Amino acid sequence: MNTETTSATLLDRFRRPLRDLRISVTDRCNFRCPYCMPAEIYGERYQFLPRESLLTFEEITRLTGILARLGVVKVRVTGGEPLVRAQVDSLVGMLSRVEGIEDLTMTTNGYLLPQFAQKLKDAGLRRITVSLDSLDDEVFRHMNGRSFDTKRVLEGLEAAQAAGFAPIKINAVAQRGVNDHTMVDLARFAKERGHIVRFIEYMDVGTLNGWKMDDVVPADEIVARIGAEMPLEPVDANYRGEVARRYRFADGEGEIGVIASVTKPFCGDCTRMRLSPEGDFVTCLFADSGRDLRTPLRSGASDETLESMIRDIWSVREDRYSEIRTMFTDEPRRKVEMYHIGG
Ligand code: GTP
Ligand code: 5AD
Ligand code: SF4
Ligand code: SF4
Repeated sequence: MNTETTSATLLDRFRRPLRDLRISVTDRCNFRCPYCMPAEIYGERYQFLPRESLLTFEEITRLTGILARLGVVKVRVTGGEPLVRAQVDSLVGMLSRVEGIEDLTMTTNGYLLPQFAQKLKDAGLRRITVSLDSLDDEVFRHMNGRSFDTKRVLEGLEAAQAAGFAPIKINAVAQRGVNDHTMVDLARFAKERGHIVRFIEYMDVGTLNGWKMDDVVPADEIVARIGAEMPLEPVDANYRGEVARRYRFADGEGEIGVIASVTKPFCGDCTRMRLSPEGDFVTCLFADSGRDLRTPLRSGASDETLESMIRDIWSVREDRYSEIRTMFTDEPRRKVEMYHIGG
């Protein structure tokens, strides 16, 4: 991937280029992970976005084309759960044809992958990441908030492997006292199957999960606990700004990653922007709001106008929440919910 910047590159206030686009295609999800969409809040009566508020596939693809001309080379489709958006595989097909996009990937909870894996592959999805916090059914049932056991997700992983995705990444949020005693098993499972598991430090995203620093398992501890069972050695990043720190197993087979967004923030290299399901352009995972692009899109704005709006937003971007989060700990702060902008 070309990560060089040129003088014409669009840079923010900290000279970070715009390289990654994370598209949340829906605010709905078939899980209710307590750290993201607690079931007691997102119950039967919760009003998710109405269909007409969602960007259409054509609108998303048009914006992606404009963003690709501004430097975006990597696109990730997320949600909520992206596979609950009807025909999301056709969106993948449309995005795969956007000129300049070198990497097209998706983060899913895997529950619907048995039906979708092959369709996504055929549509042009290059890579896939499956969220799976634990292999222990009891722990997993609690962590998905819907009492689903791991069976369907494991079938989803198999379907993705059979469809030719390799390596598959597995994301696991590590929460102290909840699933940290199952991390070694998950690392071993992934190693045996050739998947790359990445343990994510539990973050204070959104406002509803009651996050406390005590719930975080620091990345160094994760590496030490897994390394005690299966020795690990650090590896260089694949590319500048890679979110995960990589470690390979000393026996030469496989690797894990840790995403230390709390204990070792990586804002300095953050080249990510997020597009919400209803078309807000969000410049940080911890932003309190985004800039509405749907209104101009639907009122006939030209590509040039949209491009210049995006330039204006990115060029004044100063976000670096994870680096300064301790300044906010006593003061509740408005934030976009995670399920809305997709991790
Ligand atoms: P690769 O392209 O495969 O390297 O994936 P990635 O590192 O972009 O991974 P993914 O999108 O799966 O991100 C993993 C997790 O890291 C997300 O679910 C978030 O929890 C966290 N994360 C990703 N991007 C950011 C970010 O910009 N800020 C913070 N604080 N956390 C992030
Ligand atoms: N902290 C860390 N990761 C989170 N995710 C969702 N909420 C949080 C949080 N509070 C992860 C999910 C999934 C990805 C989309 O984001 O587990 O892997
Ligand atoms: Fe759904 Fe993912 Fe949020 Fe869990 S973390 S509720 S799977 S969007
Ligand atoms: Fe980027 Fe904001 Fe995450 Fe920092 S906290 S890495 S600026 S999204």
